[in-house]
Amino acid sequence: MKTHTLLMPLDMHLHLRDGVMLEDIAPLSAYSFSGGLVMPNLVPPVTTKEELEAYKERIMAAVPNDYFEPYMSLFYKNYDKAFLESVCDSILAIKLYPAGITTNSEGGVSSFDIETMKPTLQAMSDLGIPLCIHGETDGFVMDREAEFMSIYELLATNFPDLKIIMEHITTKAAVDMLDKHKNLYATITIHHLIITLDDVVGGMMKPHLFCKPIAKRPEDREALLHVALSAHPKVMFGSDSAPHPQHKKESCGCAAGVFTAPIALQLLCEVFDKYDALDNLQSFVSDNAQSIYGICPEFKEIVLEKVPFVVPHNYSHVVPMYAGETIGWSIQSVE
Ligand code: DOR
Ligand code: ZN
Repeated sequence: MKTHTLLMPLDMHLHLRDGVMLEDIAPLSAYSFSGGLVMPNLVPPVTTKEELEAYKERIMAAVPNDYFEPYMSLFYKNYDKAFLESVCDSILAIKLYPAGITTNSEGGVSSFDIETMKPTLQAMSDLGIPLCIHGETDGFVMDREAEFMSIYELLATNFPDLKIIMEHITTKAAVDMLDKHKNLYATITIHHLIITLDDVVGGMMKPHLFCKPIAKRPEDREALLHVALSAHPKVMFGSDSAPHPQHKKESCGCAAGVFTAPIALQLLCEVFDKYDALDNLQSFVSDNAQSIYGICPEFKEIVLEKVPFVVPHNYSHVVPMYAGETIGWSIQSVE
């Protein structure tokens, strides 16, 4: 039987939510991942040191039996340097959302005026705090990410020492940016390596595949696959696993988000195996993130096997990608 071992897998873009949802969902990531960068788009968003520390404690309390490092992120505001100095040891990154662009992002940035943002971004650069960005404009849905490239360029050139992570990239345009600016990096989800817009709306409409940014064209997926499968040193795995209750997905007005946390490693093995690239998966799912963020997770070893796995219909009222379907790989053991 074919098996594959991964050490210290990391999910560098993860929504764990809060309350009962957090208690139900966090253990699923904690089971198979060593750690993850936790997104701050709660209601209200995480913007103070007190909220950040209290949220981290709630996450730790939700995963009492597994070792899992919640790397914390703060919701971007035009913070001053004194505040950033006080919080920089408690966070791994700051996450910037354009205002209103996705779930719980209403308090995000409404203008990318460099002079206005300069004190914050320069301070982040000086303190070595990476900036993670949801890079979409409010343009036509298929063009939103490509249109954002000029903003990435503006930020990357004005703050050459600031590490900027283009989150959950979905386009060839974003892939092409990686080699243009030394301070641009990216996360890629598992679903954007598998699906295109056709899978979402080409046949029967699939609410559980609806997310932001929306899946794009086959040529975009090819470009993503190329850098992921070759473990380009500037790309990392970030699931963007985004749980919503079943009734909010299967409704008139479907919430954006694909829930993949419990099947992410199995699907990654399936995709990397399909393209004969399993040797590069360790870099994509852990080593690259360790070097980019300068983190050193505690030891965890996951053995996966090429044995079919029937994906549950739901995990505590949250429907995962491929619910009820059979995928090619399973988790054999976790140590
Ligand atoms: O599909 C998405 N869901 N995209 C995001 O950017 C946010 C996320 C969520 O929080 O549900
Ligand atoms: Zn996200």
